[in-house]
Amino acid sequence: MSTLQDKRIILGITGSIAAYKSATLARLLIKAGAEVQVLMTEAATEFISPLTLSTLTRRSVPTSVSSEDAWNNHVELGLWADLMIVAPLSANTLAKLALGMADNIVAAVYLSARCPVWFAPAMDLDMWHHPAVQANVQRLQSYGHRLIAPGYGELASGLVGEGRMEEPEAITALALQFFARAHDLSGKRILLTAGPTYEPIDPVRFIGNHSSGQMGIAIAEAAAQRGAKVHLVLGPSKLKPTHPAVHVHPVQTAQQMYEAAMQYFPDTDAAILAAAVADYRPSEPAPEKIKKTDEAITLRLIKNPDIAAALGQQKQSHQRIIGFALETENEEANARNKMLRKNMDAIVLNSLRHQGAGFDSPTNRIAILFPNNNTRYFELKRKTDVAHDILDVLAQWWNQSSNSSL
Ligand code: CTP
Repeated sequence: MSTLQDKRIILGITGSIAAYKSATLARLLIKAGAEVQVLMTEAATEFISPLTLSTLTRRSVPTSVSSEDAWNNHVELGLWADLMIVAPLSANTLAKLALGMADNIVAAVYLSARCPVWFAPAMDLDMWHHPAVQANVQRLQSYGHRLIAPGYGELASGLVGEGRMEEPEAITALALQFFARAHDLSGKRILLTAGPTYEPIDPVRFIGNHSSGQMGIAIAEAAAQRGAKVHLVLGPSKLKPTHPAVHVHPVQTAQQMYEAAMQYFPDTDAAILAAAVADYRPSEPAPEKIKKTDEAITLRLIKNPDIAAALGQQKQSHQRIIGFALETENEEANARNKMLRKNMDAIVLNSLRHQGAGFDSPTNRIAILFPNNNTRYFELKRKTDVAHDILDVLAQWWNQSSNSSL
């Protein structure tokens, strides 16, 4: 059973009517086992009393950078926590966090925090949709922080729309899931392929595709966060993972990707094949730049090796393979055929028909198909969250097999 036992959580509360929900959130986190340190901005104290929070958490609640030892302690607190949740986050403190300002206790501790940071905005719907607010939200996300998106419903102003702080029960569930996943792939070795491949036509031209590598890199980062050691065989992509447990092997062509994948696969527990591999390559790339002398030229293309199929043939009984399929017609049937033909254990189906899913988008909508005809459907999510859904499949397999061998 998952729990927050031994977890230290900072709960930052800022000035919003939703601050009343933070008392419930503190109580639920504590009930789940966490030690909770509340910090409140002065504006937050207009909405809920620090005494309520200090009674619930049995810890004093700093409310300003100049209170008691707060200024001295703010660095220590930032290092103490396993997770910092700012809920509710007002538009005002959101802007401060985005800019790195430190004139309230939540913002000051935030700047010292080494742990993951989550933020749950709460504001009126017009404020929420303002481009300045949206830009600040994106900025915090770009620092690697997790947005707990506001929900839709009636707002304090009487208007109905997006802006309500997520419910305390849902935030607690996310925290439980986060810590349960934290080390569940520990000791596992995962091979990933990601990005496009470039097949040279001559020294300056190539055949490529629109893959950004985003999805595969998100999986690599998420797997490393969950304790796995990752070999990422990455085609030409502008993006790079940052986690030290991700070993990147850069390649250009499908043939190079094939060779690297074959080299690392025998020593891994699973392969996730997210690369958009070119199926064909020019049979004889020109050694010099092709000159524009002829009216028409013909490129002869030959087949590239199928990495997924080759790994599928080599797969040992303890190894798992998860592939990807991007289909434009008969999606599920085509994906299922691919999975069976290449001896995969699951295949992730991306659909081009869904808005917000696909190559260059930060979001994706997937279904995961299994050989026993089961299919799991997921909603549109950020690719970082989709990555965890895919890794949950591996975690469940390994969890089941370690339980059954007990
Ligand atoms: N794949 C691979 N090596 C290739 C082609 C594909 O490893 N040469 C992997 C992809 O990374 C993906 C899966 O196989 O995980 C399916 O890729 P896709 O391009 O959809 O399949 P193809 O076999 O190329 O089929 P299609 O005829 O639809 O292009």
